[in-house]
Amino acid sequence: MVESIRRTTRREREQLIAAAGWNLFDLKAEDVTIDLLTDSGTGAMSQEQWASMMRGDESYAGSRSFGRLQESVRDVFGFEHVLPVHQGRAAEHLYFGMLLEEGGIVVSNGHFDTTRAHVEITGTEAIDLPCRENSDPRTLAPFKGNIDLERLGLLLSGPDGMRVRALVMTLTNNTGGGQPVSMANLAAASRMAREHGIPVVLDIARFAENSWFVKEREQGWATKSVAEIALATMAHGDVALMSAKKDGLVNIGGLVLTRDALLHERLGQRSIVFEGFPTYGGLAGRDIDALATGLREVLDEQYLSYRVGQVAHMADRIEAAGVPTLRPAGGHAVYVDAGSLLSHIPPSQFPAQALGCALYVEGGVRGVEIGSNMMGRDPITGENRHPDIELLRLAVPRRTYTHTQLETVADALAGIALRPEKVSGLDMTYEAPVLRHFTAKFRPLTTARKH
Ligand code: F0G
Repeated sequence: MVESIRRTTRREREQLIAAAGWNLFDLKAEDVTIDLLTDSGTGAMSQEQWASMMRGDESYAGSRSFGRLQESVRDVFGFEHVLPVHQGRAAEHLYFGMLLEEGGIVVSNGHFDTTRAHVEITGTEAIDLPCRENSDPRTLAPFKGNIDLERLGLLLSGPDGMRVRALVMTLTNNTGGGQPVSMANLAAASRMAREHGIPVVLDIARFAENSWFVKEREQGWATKSVAEIALATMAHGDVALMSAKKDGLVNIGGLVLTRDALLHERLGQRSIVFEGFPTYGGLAGRDIDALATGLREVLDEQYLSYRVGQVAHMADRIEAAGVPTLRPAGGHAVYVDAGSLLSHIPPSQFPAQALGCALYVEGGVRGVEIGSNMMGRDPITGENRHPDIELLRLAVPRRTYTHTQLETVADALAGIALRPEKVSGLDMTYEAPVLRHFTAKFRPLTTARKH
Protein backbone atom coordinates (compact mmCIF):
# COMPACT_ATOMS: atom_id res chain seq x y z
CA MET A 1 0.00 0.00 0.00
CA VAL A 2 1.13 3.52 -0.56
CA GLU A 3 -0.24 6.63 1.04
CA SER A 4 0.30 10.23 0.08
CA ILE A 5 1.97 12.48 2.61
CA ARG A 6 0.72 16.02 3.11
CA ARG A 7 3.37 18.68 3.25
CA THR A 8 2.92 21.69 5.46
CA THR A 9 4.68 25.03 5.66
CA ARG A 10 6.77 26.16 8.60
CA ARG A 11 4.17 28.83 9.38
CA GLU A 12 1.41 26.17 9.47
CA ARG A 13 3.50 23.92 11.71
CA GLU A 14 4.18 26.77 14.14
CA GLN A 15 0.43 27.28 14.46
CA LEU A 16 -0.36 23.54 14.68
CA ILE A 17 2.13 22.82 17.47
CA ALA A 18 0.88 25.84 19.43
CA ALA A 19 -2.71 24.62 19.03
CA ALA A 20 -1.57 21.19 20.28
CA GLY A 21 -0.17 22.78 23.45
CA TRP A 22 3.38 21.78 22.43
CA ASN A 23 2.43 18.13 22.87
CA LEU A 24 3.24 15.98 19.81
CA PHE A 25 0.55 13.42 20.74
CA ASP A 26 -2.07 16.11 20.12
CA LEU A 27 -1.11 16.65 16.49
CA LYS A 28 -3.25 15.13 13.78
CA ALA A 29 -1.28 12.43 11.93
CA GLU A 30 -2.15 14.13 8.63
CA ASP A 31 -0.24 17.20 9.78
CA VAL A 32 2.95 15.13 10.23
CA THR A 33 5.23 14.53 7.24
CA ILE A 34 7.48 11.84 8.75
CA ASP A 35 5.98 10.10 11.76
CA LEU A 36 8.59 8.52 14.03
CA LEU A 37 6.42 8.51 17.16
CA THR A 38 6.63 4.72 17.37
CA ASP A 39 7.50 1.57 15.41
CA SER A 40 4.52 -0.16 17.02
CA GLY A 41 1.74 -1.17 14.64
CA THR A 42 2.82 1.49 12.16
CA GLY A 43 4.59 -0.70 9.58
CA ALA A 44 3.33 -1.75 6.14
CA MET A 45 2.05 -5.27 5.55
CA SER A 46 3.21 -7.36 2.59
CA GLN A 47 1.10 -8.71 -0.27
CA GLU A 48 1.24 -12.15 1.39
CA GLN A 49 -0.11 -10.67 4.60
CA TRP A 50 -2.92 -8.93 2.74
CA ALA A 51 -3.70 -12.27 1.10
CA SER A 52 -3.81 -13.74 4.63
CA MET A 53 -6.28 -11.02 5.62
CA MET A 54 -8.54 -12.14 2.79
CA ARG A 55 -8.56 -15.77 3.87
CA GLY A 56 -9.00 -15.00 7.59
CA ASP A 57 -11.39 -17.49 9.18
CA GLU A 58 -13.74 -15.68 11.56
CA SER A 59 -15.03 -18.76 13.38
CA TYR A 60 -15.45 -18.05 17.08
CA ALA A 61 -13.58 -21.20 18.14
CA GLY A 62 -10.84 -23.30 16.52
CA SER A 63 -10.49 -21.24 13.33
CA ARG A 64 -8.16 -22.26 10.50
CA SER A 65 -6.34 -18.95 11.04
CA PHE A 66 -5.56 -19.96 14.61
CA GLY A 67 -4.22 -23.27 13.29
CA ARG A 68 -1.88 -21.37 10.97
CA LEU A 69 -0.73 -19.23 13.90
CA GLN A 70 0.04 -22.34 15.97
CA GLU A 71 2.15 -23.73 13.11
CA SER A 72 4.11 -20.49 12.74
CA VAL A 73 4.67 -20.22 16.48
CA ARG A 74 5.96 -23.81 16.73
CA ASP A 75 8.26 -23.36 13.71
CA VAL A 76 9.59 -19.90 14.54
CA PHE A 77 9.72 -20.03 18.35
CA GLY A 78 9.55 -23.72 19.30
CA PHE A 79 6.96 -22.96 22.01
CA GLU A 80 4.23 -25.59 22.22
CA HIS A 81 1.34 -23.43 23.40
CA VAL A 82 0.07 -20.09 22.09
CA LEU A 83 -2.61 -17.66 23.21
CA PRO A 84 -3.29 -14.73 20.88
CA VAL A 85 -4.15 -11.44 22.62
CA HIS A 86 -4.97 -7.97 21.33
CA GLN A 87 -1.53 -6.44 22.04
CA GLY A 88 1.58 -6.73 24.19
CA ARG A 89 0.21 -5.21 27.37
CA ALA A 90 -2.71 -7.66 27.28
CA ALA A 91 -0.15 -10.49 27.34
CA GLU A 92 1.48 -8.80 30.35
CA HIS A 93 -1.90 -8.44 32.03
CA LEU A 94 -2.81 -12.11 31.59
CA TYR A 95 0.54 -13.47 32.75
CA PHE A 96 1.74 -11.08 35.46
CA GLY A 97 -1.78 -10.61 36.82
CA MET A 98 -1.86 -14.34 37.50
CA LEU A 99 1.74 -14.91 38.59
CA LEU A 100 2.36 -11.98 40.90
CA GLU A 101 1.12 -10.86 44.27
CA GLU A 102 2.20 -8.18 46.74
CA GLY A 103 5.71 -8.30 48.12
CA GLY A 104 7.52 -9.96 45.24
CA ILE A 105 10.29 -8.74 42.93
CA VAL A 106 10.62 -8.97 39.15
CA VAL A 107 14.12 -8.38 37.83
CA SER A 108 14.96 -7.38 34.27
CA ASN A 109 17.59 -6.01 31.90
CA GLY A 110 15.02 -3.23 31.36
CA HIS A 111 11.25 -3.27 31.90
CA PHE A 112 9.32 -1.50 29.16
CA ASP A 113 6.82 1.05 30.68
CA THR A 114 3.74 -1.15 30.30
CA THR A 115 5.61 -4.18 31.64
CA ARG A 116 6.68 -2.16 34.67
CA ALA A 117 3.09 -0.97 35.14
CA HIS A 118 1.70 -4.54 35.06
CA VAL A 119 4.33 -5.68 37.55
CA GLU A 120 3.90 -2.74 39.92
CA ILE A 121 0.10 -2.80 39.82
CA THR A 122 0.25 -6.13 41.70
CA GLY A 123 2.37 -4.59 44.49
CA THR A 124 5.53 -6.19 43.11
CA GLU A 125 8.82 -4.33 42.84
CA ALA A 126 10.24 -4.01 39.30
CA ILE A 127 14.05 -3.87 39.37
CA ASP A 128 16.17 -3.03 36.31
CA LEU A 129 19.77 -4.24 36.24
CA PRO A 130 21.16 -2.96 32.92
CA CYS A 131 24.82 -3.74 32.21
CA ARG A 132 27.46 -1.14 33.02
CA GLU A 133 28.11 -0.13 29.38
CA ASN A 134 24.46 0.89 29.12
CA SER A 135 24.98 3.97 31.29
CA ASP A 136 27.52 5.55 28.90
CA PRO A 137 25.71 6.91 25.82
CA ARG A 138 28.94 7.16 23.80
CA THR A 139 30.45 3.67 24.34
CA LEU A 140 30.26 1.52 21.21
CA ALA A 141 29.70 -1.80 23.02
CA PRO A 142 27.94 -4.43 20.87
CA PHE A 143 25.38 -5.65 23.44
CA LYS A 144 24.38 -2.71 25.59
CA GLY A 145 20.99 -4.34 26.22
CA ASN A 146 22.56 -7.03 28.42
CA ILE A 147 21.66 -7.58 32.06
CA ASP A 148 24.39 -7.06 34.69
CA LEU A 149 25.12 -10.70 35.61
CA GLU A 150 27.10 -9.80 38.68
CA ARG A 151 24.31 -7.75 40.22
CA LEU A 152 21.76 -10.39 39.19
CA GLY A 153 23.82 -13.02 41.01
CA LEU A 154 24.00 -10.84 44.13
CA LEU A 155 20.26 -10.24 44.10
CA LEU A 156 19.37 -13.91 43.64
CA SER A 157 21.72 -15.19 46.33
CA GLY A 158 21.15 -12.25 48.72
CA PRO A 159 18.45 -11.68 51.32
CA ASP A 160 15.90 -10.52 48.70
CA GLY A 161 16.51 -13.54 46.47
CA MET A 162 13.57 -15.43 47.95
CA ARG A 163 11.22 -12.65 46.82
CA VAL A 164 12.16 -12.79 43.12
CA ARG A 165 9.20 -14.13 41.13
CA ALA A 166 10.46 -13.78 37.56
CA LEU A 167 13.38 -12.75 35.37
CA VAL A 168 12.24 -10.67 32.39
CA MET A 169 14.66 -10.35 29.48
CA THR A 170 13.54 -7.67 27.01
CA LEU A 171 14.85 -8.35 23.47
CA THR A 172 15.87 -5.80 22.28
CA ASN A 173 16.02 -3.55 25.33
CA ASN A 174 13.70 -0.69 24.31
CA THR A 175 14.06 1.38 27.49
CA GLY A 176 17.84 0.99 27.29
CA GLY A 177 18.05 2.44 23.76
CA GLY A 178 16.83 -0.42 21.54
CA GLN A 179 20.07 -2.23 22.32
CA PRO A 180 20.47 -5.99 21.80
CA VAL A 181 21.12 -8.76 24.33
CA SER A 182 23.82 -11.31 23.48
CA MET A 183 23.08 -15.02 23.43
CA ALA A 184 25.82 -15.58 26.03
CA ASN A 185 24.29 -13.03 28.42
CA LEU A 186 20.78 -14.42 27.93
CA ALA A 187 22.00 -17.98 28.47
CA ALA A 188 23.89 -17.09 31.65
CA ALA A 189 21.04 -15.04 33.14
CA SER A 190 18.53 -17.75 32.29
CA ARG A 191 20.72 -20.46 33.87
CA MET A 192 21.03 -18.42 37.07
CA ALA A 193 17.28 -17.85 37.31
CA ARG A 194 16.43 -21.47 36.62
CA GLU A 195 18.92 -22.65 39.26
CA HIS A 196 16.89 -20.60 41.73
CA GLY A 197 13.61 -22.02 40.43
CA ILE A 198 12.62 -18.65 38.95
CA PRO A 199 10.76 -18.58 35.60
CA VAL A 200 12.45 -16.84 32.68
CA VAL A 201 10.06 -14.56 30.77
CA LEU A 202 11.18 -13.29 27.37
CA ASP A 203 9.72 -10.03 26.04
CA ILE A 204 10.09 -10.83 22.35
CA ALA A 205 8.54 -7.71 20.77
CA ARG A 206 11.73 -7.24 18.70
CA PHE A 207 13.12 -10.78 18.68
CA ALA A 208 14.10 -10.77 14.98
CA GLU A 209 16.10 -7.55 15.32
CA ASN A 210 17.83 -8.98 18.39
CA SER A 211 18.65 -12.19 16.49
CA TRP A 212 20.05 -10.15 13.62
CA PHE A 213 22.43 -8.33 15.97
CA VAL A 214 23.56 -11.68 17.44
CA LYS A 215 24.38 -12.90 13.93
CA GLU A 216 26.23 -9.68 13.09
CA ARG A 217 28.07 -9.08 16.35
CA GLU A 218 28.44 -12.20 18.48
CA GLN A 219 31.26 -14.63 18.02
CA GLY A 220 30.13 -18.08 16.92
CA TRP A 221 26.79 -17.06 15.41
CA ALA A 222 27.75 -15.54 12.03
CA THR A 223 27.19 -18.76 10.09
CA LYS A 224 23.79 -19.47 11.64
CA SER A 225 20.60 -18.21 10.05
CA VAL A 226 18.45 -15.68 11.90
CA ALA A 227 15.76 -18.37 12.07
CA GLU A 228 18.17 -20.70 13.89
CA ILE A 229 19.28 -17.90 16.21
CA ALA A 230 15.67 -17.02 17.05
CA LEU A 231 14.94 -20.65 17.96
CA ALA A 232 18.11 -20.86 20.08
CA THR A 233 17.07 -17.63 21.84
CA MET A 234 13.65 -18.97 22.74
CA ALA A 235 15.14 -22.11 24.31
CA HIS A 236 16.32 -19.89 27.18
CA GLY A 237 12.78 -18.82 28.10
CA ASP A 238 10.00 -20.60 29.96
CA VAL A 239 7.37 -18.09 28.87
CA ALA A 240 7.41 -15.48 26.10
CA LEU A 241 5.23 -12.39 25.85
CA MET A 242 5.04 -10.54 22.57
CA SER A 243 3.69 -7.29 21.28
CA ALA A 244 3.22 -8.50 17.69
CA LYS A 245 2.92 -4.87 16.55
CA LYS A 246 6.69 -4.79 16.17
CA ASP A 247 8.39 -7.94 14.80
CA GLY A 248 5.05 -9.64 14.08
CA LEU A 249 4.82 -7.11 11.23
CA VAL A 250 1.15 -6.48 11.96
CA ASN A 251 -0.85 -3.45 13.01
CA ILE A 252 -2.43 -5.12 16.04
CA GLY A 253 -1.87 -8.29 18.06
CA GLY A 254 0.10 -9.98 20.80
CA LEU A 255 1.05 -13.46 22.04
CA VAL A 256 1.50 -15.43 25.25
CA LEU A 257 3.72 -18.46 24.62
CA THR A 258 4.24 -21.25 27.14
CA ARG A 259 5.65 -24.78 27.35
CA ASP A 260 3.55 -25.96 30.29
CA ALA A 261 0.07 -27.28 29.40
CA LEU A 262 -1.39 -26.48 32.82
CA LEU A 263 -0.12 -22.90 32.78
CA HIS A 264 -1.49 -22.49 29.26
CA GLU A 265 -4.88 -23.74 30.40
CA ARG A 266 -5.02 -21.37 33.38
CA LEU A 267 -4.00 -18.42 31.21
CA GLY A 268 -6.64 -19.46 28.69
CA GLN A 269 -9.28 -19.20 31.40
CA ARG A 270 -8.12 -15.67 32.19
CA SER A 271 -8.19 -14.90 28.48
CA ILE A 272 -11.87 -15.81 28.29
CA VAL A 273 -12.59 -13.13 30.92
CA PHE A 274 -10.32 -10.38 29.58
CA GLU A 275 -9.60 -11.01 25.88
CA GLY A 276 -11.89 -13.60 24.34
CA PHE A 277 -12.01 -17.31 23.59
CA PRO A 278 -8.41 -18.63 23.64
CA THR A 279 -8.27 -19.30 19.89
CA TYR A 280 -8.95 -15.66 18.97
CA GLY A 281 -8.05 -13.62 22.09
CA GLY A 282 -9.39 -10.22 21.14
CA LEU A 283 -8.32 -10.39 17.51
CA ALA A 284 -10.21 -10.95 14.27
CA GLY A 285 -9.34 -14.16 12.38
CA ARG A 286 -7.85 -12.03 9.62
CA ASP A 287 -5.47 -10.33 12.05
CA ILE A 288 -4.35 -13.72 13.35
CA ASP A 289 -3.76 -14.95 9.81
CA ALA A 290 -1.68 -11.89 8.90
CA LEU A 291 0.38 -12.45 12.06
CA ALA A 292 0.96 -16.12 11.18
CA THR A 293 2.49 -14.87 7.91
CA GLY A 294 4.36 -11.92 9.46
CA LEU A 295 6.21 -14.08 12.00
CA ARG A 296 7.80 -16.03 9.14
CA GLU A 297 8.47 -12.98 6.96
CA VAL A 298 10.31 -11.05 9.63
CA LEU A 299 13.11 -13.64 9.56
CA ASP A 300 14.05 -12.54 6.01
CA GLU A 301 17.68 -11.50 6.38
CA GLN A 302 17.61 -9.09 3.45
CA TYR A 303 14.77 -7.28 5.13
CA LEU A 304 16.52 -7.23 8.53
CA SER A 305 19.76 -6.00 7.04
CA TYR A 306 17.91 -3.19 5.27
CA ARG A 307 15.88 -2.25 8.34
CA VAL A 308 18.65 -2.19 10.90
CA GLY A 309 20.92 -0.54 8.30
CA GLN A 310 18.33 2.16 7.67
CA VAL A 311 18.17 3.10 11.35
CA ALA A 312 22.00 3.11 11.58
CA HIS A 313 22.24 5.26 8.43
CA MET A 314 19.90 7.86 9.90
CA ALA A 315 21.89 7.85 13.16
CA ASP A 316 25.17 8.37 11.27
CA ARG A 317 23.72 11.31 9.33
CA ILE A 318 22.46 12.85 12.57
CA GLU A 319 25.86 12.41 14.25
CA ALA A 320 27.61 13.87 11.20
CA ALA A 321 25.51 17.01 11.67
CA GLY A 322 27.01 17.39 15.15
CA VAL A 323 23.93 16.13 16.99
CA PRO A 324 24.86 13.59 19.69
CA THR A 325 22.90 10.33 19.81
CA LEU A 326 22.95 7.26 21.99
CA ARG A 327 25.61 4.99 20.44
CA PRO A 328 25.47 2.55 18.75
CA ALA A 329 22.10 3.10 17.06
CA GLY A 330 19.31 0.85 18.32
CA GLY A 331 17.55 -1.71 16.15
CA HIS A 332 14.30 0.22 15.82
CA ALA A 333 15.12 3.79 16.77
CA VAL A 334 17.65 6.57 17.06
CA TYR A 335 17.76 8.21 20.50
CA VAL A 336 18.91 11.83 20.24
CA ASP A 337 20.71 13.27 23.28
CA ALA A 338 18.57 16.39 23.61
CA GLY A 339 20.11 17.43 26.91
CA SER A 340 23.53 17.80 25.29
CA LEU A 341 22.33 19.51 22.12
CA LEU A 342 20.17 21.98 24.06
CA SER A 343 22.50 22.37 27.03
CA HIS A 344 21.11 25.87 27.66
CA ILE A 345 17.75 24.36 28.65
CA PRO A 346 17.70 22.88 32.17
CA PRO A 347 15.83 19.58 32.80
CA SER A 348 13.08 21.54 34.61
CA GLN A 349 12.27 23.13 31.22
CA PHE A 350 11.97 19.82 29.33
CA PRO A 351 14.78 19.97 26.75
CA ALA A 352 13.77 16.76 24.94
CA GLN A 353 10.16 17.89 24.66
CA ALA A 354 11.41 21.26 23.36
CA LEU A 355 13.61 19.49 20.79
CA GLY A 356 10.67 17.31 19.69
CA CYS A 357 8.57 20.44 19.06
CA ALA A 358 11.45 22.23 17.30
CA LEU A 359 12.01 19.21 15.03
CA TYR A 360 8.34 19.23 14.10
CA VAL A 361 8.46 22.93 13.22
CA GLU A 362 11.73 22.49 11.32
CA GLY A 363 10.87 19.41 9.25
CA GLY A 364 7.34 18.13 10.00
CA VAL A 365 8.90 15.19 11.88
CA ARG A 366 7.29 13.67 14.98
CA GLY A 367 9.37 11.83 17.59
CA VAL A 368 8.65 11.05 21.23
CA GLU A 369 10.16 12.50 24.38
CA ILE A 370 11.88 10.08 26.77
CA GLY A 371 12.93 12.53 29.45
CA SER A 372 11.64 14.60 32.35
CA ASN A 373 8.14 14.85 30.88
CA MET A 374 7.75 11.06 30.63
CA MET A 375 9.44 10.45 34.00
CA GLY A 376 6.64 12.26 35.81
CA ARG A 377 6.66 12.97 39.53
CA ASP A 378 7.88 10.97 42.48
CA PRO A 379 4.70 9.39 43.92
CA ILE A 380 5.84 10.09 47.48
CA THR A 381 7.46 13.54 47.37
CA GLY A 382 5.52 14.89 44.39
CA GLU A 383 8.77 16.32 42.99
CA ASN A 384 9.50 16.16 39.26
CA ARG A 385 11.85 13.28 38.44
CA HIS A 386 14.70 13.74 35.97
CA PRO A 387 16.45 10.97 34.03
CA ASP A 388 20.25 10.79 33.60
CA ILE A 389 19.89 11.62 29.90
CA GLU A 390 17.13 13.65 28.23
CA LEU A 391 16.31 11.76 25.03
CA LEU A 392 14.17 12.28 21.95
CA ARG A 393 13.38 8.88 20.41
CA LEU A 394 12.94 8.65 16.63
CA ALA A 395 11.39 5.21 16.06
CA VAL A 396 11.30 3.93 12.49
CA PRO A 397 8.16 2.11 11.28
CA ARG A 398 8.91 -1.14 9.41
CA ARG A 399 8.88 -1.21 5.58
CA THR A 400 7.46 2.31 5.43
CA TYR A 401 10.01 5.07 4.80
CA THR A 402 12.85 5.33 2.30
CA HIS A 403 16.45 6.20 3.13
CA THR A 404 15.90 9.61 1.52
CA GLN A 405 12.95 10.39 3.74
CA LEU A 406 14.99 9.51 6.82
CA GLU A 407 17.84 11.69 5.55
CA THR A 408 15.48 14.65 5.62
CA VAL A 409 15.00 13.95 9.34
CA ALA A 410 18.76 14.22 9.83
CA ASP A 411 18.81 17.40 7.74
CA ALA A 412 16.10 18.97 9.89
CA LEU A 413 18.08 18.18 13.04
CA ALA A 414 21.17 19.63 11.36
CA GLY A 415 19.19 22.85 10.83
CA ILE A 416 18.43 23.02 14.56
CA ALA A 417 22.05 22.21 15.46
CA LEU A 418 23.26 25.30 13.57
CA ARG A 419 21.56 27.56 16.13
CA PRO A 420 20.43 25.40 19.06
CA GLU A 421 20.14 28.47 21.31
CA LYS A 422 17.10 29.55 19.30
CA VAL A 423 15.12 26.71 20.87
CA SER A 424 13.58 27.79 24.15
CA GLY A 425 12.56 25.71 27.15
CA LEU A 426 8.97 24.83 28.02
CA ASP A 427 6.78 25.49 31.01
CA MET A 428 4.23 22.75 31.79
CA THR A 429 0.78 24.28 32.14
CA TYR A 430 -1.30 21.11 32.54
CA GLU A 431 -0.56 17.56 33.65
CA ALA A 432 -2.64 14.47 34.40
CA PRO A 433 -1.87 12.56 37.61
CA VAL A 434 -0.62 9.43 35.77
CA LEU A 435 1.23 8.91 32.46
CA ARG A 436 1.19 12.68 32.05
CA HIS A 437 3.28 12.81 28.86
CA PHE A 438 0.36 11.72 26.68
CA THR A 439 -1.80 14.73 27.55
CA ALA A 440 0.44 17.37 29.16
CA LYS A 441 0.27 20.95 27.85
CA PHE A 442 3.13 23.42 27.64
CA ARG A 443 3.96 27.02 26.87
CA PRO A 444 7.32 28.12 25.48
CA LEU A 445 9.48 30.31 27.70
CA THR A 446 10.45 33.17 25.43
CA THR A 447 13.92 33.54 26.79
CA ALA A 448 15.61 30.36 27.90
CA ARG A 449 17.09 30.84 31.35
CA LYS A 450 20.79 30.17 31.72
CA HIS A 451 21.81 27.94 34.59
N1 F0G B 1 7.29 -4.61 25.42
C1 F0G B 1 8.08 -3.79 24.71
C2 F0G B 1 9.57 -4.03 24.68
C3 F0G B 1 7.53 -2.70 23.99
O1 F0G B 1 8.33 -1.90 23.31
C4 F0G B 1 6.13 -2.51 24.04
C5 F0G B 1 5.50 -1.39 23.31
C6 F0G B 1 5.34 -3.39 24.80
C7 F0G B 1 5.96 -4.44 25.48
C8 F0G B 1 3.84 -3.22 24.92
O2 F0G B 1 3.23 -3.62 23.76
O3 F0G B 1 2.11 -1.55 22.87
O4 F0G B 1 1.52 -3.84 22.03
O5 F0G B 1 0.83 -3.13 24.30
N2 F0G B 1 6.14 -0.42 22.81
C9 F0G B 1 5.65 0.68 22.02
C10 F0G B 1 6.74 1.69 21.78
C11 F0G B 1 4.38 1.28 22.50
O6 F0G B 1 6.44 2.77 21.20
O7 F0G B 1 7.90 1.43 22.12
P1 F0G B 1 1.85 -2.99 23.22
